Amino acid sequence: MEKNRTALYPGSFDPVTNGHLDVIERAAQLFDRLIVGVGQNDSKRPIFTNGERLAHLTEACAEWENVEVRAFSGLLTDAVKEFDAEAVIRGLRAVSDFEWEFQMALMNRQLSPTCETLFLMPKVEYSFVSSTMIREIARFGGDISLFVPPRVAKELMSRMQELA
Ligand code: PNS
Repeated sequence: MEKNRTALYPGSFDPVTNGHLDVIERAAQLFDRLIVGVGQNDSKRPIFTNGERLAHLTEACAEWENVEVRAFSGLLTDAVKEFDAEAVIRGLRAVSDFEWEFQMALMNRQLSPTCETLFLMPKVEYSFVSSTMIREIARFGGDISLFVPPRVAKELMSRMQELA
């Protein structure tokens, strides 16, 4: 019997962007099963709670039948084992992403020799979109609706108003 190939796409997703969704769609076409792993790291002081980020991704990924959204905490290499994944997916937007991603991929391989990282490039129109930039634009009242799902845009704008 053929093995089901599973990949894990981990991230903070604070918030999920259309660039993340583009990577998810690509990875879901390459693997039988894709787990989107929402990192639970409260020391990063996210704008959205763990539960909110899980809900945003679950709603945004509902159209893809082989995509599951799951929380993970602790080491990524442990999550890879827990989810029985064969590969870690990361998005590469520009050369500037590469240095950190390369370091992380090699460290993960050092921690777990079978942990392979695959890089996927989102559409070029998302190559400049990052969660950090989205949070910053929202903080100053700019229009983020082109870059995130509608529910995220609405909730982020009201979260920023609460924090102002
Ligand atoms: O969206 P992000 O912030 O780039 O995602 C980073 C994430 C969650 C993938 C990374 O911080 C991570 O893997 N955290 C788990 C802890 C861990 O394994 N750290 C060592 C990686 S070298």
